[in-house]
Amino acid sequence: MHTIFQYQEYVSEYLESECKMKEPRNLYEPIHYILGLGGKRIRPVLTLMTAEIFETDYKKALPAALAVEVFHNFSLVHDDIMDDAPLRRGQTTVHEKWDLNTGILSGDAMLILAYQYFESYQPKIFRKLAKLFSKTALQVCEGQQWDVDFEVRDDVTIPEYLKMIEYKTAVLVAAAMKMGAIIAQSSKDNAKLIYDFGLNLGLAFQLQDDYLDAFGDPETFGKQVGGDIIENKKTYLYLKAMEFSTPEQAAELKKWFTEPAADIEAKVAAVKEIFNVSGGSQATQDAIQEFTFKAFDTLDKMNLDTAKKEVLRTFGENLMGRIA
Ligand code: IPE
Ligand code: IPE
Ligand code: MG
Ligand code: MG
Ligand code: MG
Repeated sequence: MHTIFQYQEYVSEYLESECKMKEPRNLYEPIHYILGLGGKRIRPVLTLMTAEIFETDYKKALPAALAVEVFHNFSLVHDDIMDDAPLRRGQTTVHEKWDLNTGILSGDAMLILAYQYFESYQPKIFRKLAKLFSKTALQVCEGQQWDVDFEVRDDVTIPEYLKMIEYKTAVLVAAAMKMGAIIAQSSKDNAKLIYDFGLNLGLAFQLQDDYLDAFGDPETFGKQVGGDIIENKKTYLYLKAMEFSTPEQAAELKKWFTEPAADIEAKVAAVKEIFNVSGGSQATQDAIQEFTFKAFDTLDKMNLDTAKKEVLRTFGENLMGRIA
């Protein structure tokens, strides 16, 4: 096994060796730009780590890890268009630095590149990886559509929200891990359990993302703080605040989320205040813990040495405390 930092390095080195600049520049430059901004590389790290947890050299998992990271970056470029986001990883988003069409096409190209990285696997493994990847990618699109649909709905329920974040975010974390298990040819049971572990960790991860979107430090978060509030996103913070608020507060919150705001900063400040006083913020923190612990429960069922389970547990604990 290696450290998280080492896995991040292996991903970056492999990315540099694989992604060469080509013509036309207006297609490839944005791809290099977004991939070069780095990010935490959580998903590819999990692919490499899972391969090693199941006794296979991480090097065999590098193409799949890169596929997952390039797909993730494709989804971010298109997500930033859909969310009208100005900042990503502390820098200008692709569609703002170039333009909308550039964001669309370089995103499309990244999705295709991601598929190509699977071509280095033998047919039996390739088939399994490609099948999982296609299913996951389509779920991400479904989740993204729900996310956008919910912006203009005022009757979103917690189960609907959880399904939406499962699809837009958690399935990719889960699939990233299962790919490591597929490459390592683990038992079917362990492949399924590691998927469930990733899924619950992914749910906790998106809940934390929603929390940081409102309450993160602008210096470290790398995205526009308050972006979800500006876009009327029906996050867990919002749904729980609605549930726990007094009728007056709930009416105020609903007003902020349905009527155009003349003063955006005032909107963000007022909504954050309601998130806090209603108990919505606390409920979100509790849910982050709940899903992380649910992930740990699947570890108990896994046929794996304790030291390896500990590696996964530590990863989950660190993710809970992340600030970006
Ligand atoms: C951002 O993912 C999108 C979500 C699913 C929340 P990350 O927080 O993993 O973004 P980077 O890759 O580290 O920038
Ligand atoms: C991201 O959800 C999900 C995908 C990119 C598929 P968000 O819209 O919350 O992600 P960020 O906060 O912009 O990174
Ligand atoms: Mg977004
Ligand atoms: Mg989004
Ligand atoms: Mg977010």
